[in-house]
Amino acid sequence: MSGVGEAAGRLDWISRPAGPPLRGALAVPGDKSVSHRALMLGALAEGESHIRGFLEGEDTRATAAVFAQLGVSIQTPAPGERLVHGVGLHGLRGARGPLDCGNAGTGMRLLTGLLAGQAFDSTLVGDESLSRRPMRRVTEPLVAMGARIDTREGLPPLHIHGGRRLHGIRYELPVASAQVKSALLLAGLYAEGETEILEPHPTRDYTERMLAAFGWPIEFGPGRASLTGGHALRATDVQVPADFSSAAFFLVAASLVPGSELLLRAVGLNPRRTGLLQALKLMGADIEVLNARQSGGEPVADLRVRHAPLHGIELPGALVPDMIDEFPALFIAAAAARGRTVIRGAAELRVKESDRIASMAAGLRALGVSVEETPDGALVTGGTLGPGTVEGHGDHRVAMSFAVAGLVAAGEIRIEDCRNVATSFPGFLELANGCGFALAEA
Ligand code: S3P
Repeated sequence: MSGVGEAAGRLDWISRPAGPPLRGALAVPGDKSVSHRALMLGALAEGESHIRGFLEGEDTRATAAVFAQLGVSIQTPAPGERLVHGVGLHGLRGARGPLDCGNAGTGMRLLTGLLAGQAFDSTLVGDESLSRRPMRRVTEPLVAMGARIDTREGLPPLHIHGGRRLHGIRYELPVASAQVKSALLLAGLYAEGETEILEPHPTRDYTERMLAAFGWPIEFGPGRASLTGGHALRATDVQVPADFSSAAFFLVAASLVPGSELLLRAVGLNPRRTGLLQALKLMGADIEVLNARQSGGEPVADLRVRHAPLHGIELPGALVPDMIDEFPALFIAAAAARGRTVIRGAAELRVKESDRIASMAAGLRALGVSVEETPDGALVTGGTLGPGTVEGHGDHRVAMSFAVAGLVAAGEIRIEDCRNVATSFPGFLELANGCGFALAEA
């Protein structure tokens, strides 16, 4: 099986210690979560939706290609823009072949919910990493709604049977997951009656906000969302904010390199995404939120980060779900901080694009940092990072985090297997070098 994000050849990076401090004003690419959802709701809406700030990453392009296979016309008027010609809730056509989600867990899980309510069968496939990620968390509640989905023992490929009558359910999520919540809400559009989702901890609410913006009646608040089937989506223009998860690497980098000051422009600050901001501040970081405003229904601001000495913390458990994608970057901050950082309650990291506890612990140990792994976290003792070779595990955020580590290491770091960085952050290398990184393809 070949996935969109799968490496055509291997790509390694060398990250060298910083010369002068990091300086500049940067616009990181558009938010991945928002870009996926804008395509999905735009496709199911009646009329044309213009998406601006769209992430030109492999994950979101894979989702666009899936909708093209399902009969939706999507134009690219300019890079970072998409014009989606919506076909209406019942206008998708069955595809001939499998639908390739590449590396994207968000793409696959949300599409599973969306496709469970269609009249036709679909097969979803993904790359090697996605083919190892657990799907029962979405298929089980969808089956409880009346769907029929075949899996390979809970893993992709997923074969989703069409022509099923779905009915709403009340579902308490066993783990906090915006992907599962969103999949069930998308299936709920096609279900008879009410679909109600309760979360153990509130997660990002982009699907709820965007459904409301597209005119679908929905009730939601922290930890809860409910809607009924049988309405229609009206096309709406979407302005995608810059992705906080991409900004995160620069927040850590500028905090660590003496003398640095970076301005990150128009970053999405949805409170369910900004746990790292709080964690870094607890560690002593100097980050200012400037020009806070609303853009496309989302809070957005410019972030000014200046170097500051960091110290270790016991990470408050309540922050974990709000920074679930930022742990690779936090591991680097912890490794370069003074003292010990304790991470607990983050077992979900083990089922991301790689097992991020294991990937980060192994990489940091290879650089001479003392890391004790636990089932749901790690104890990182900060100090000096040595030179060395680390494995990127085909995980975009692991690779970019070690690129940041290279800035403050005692010598160069070779990062193996970095090709998947393009899934979420095309142009990372150029943007990073533009503000003072010394990062090169090996
Ligand atoms: C996402 C939800 C999170 C996150 C992922 C994007 C989303 O996954 O890690 O990168 O867009 O809904 P989980 O729902 O598995 O926590």
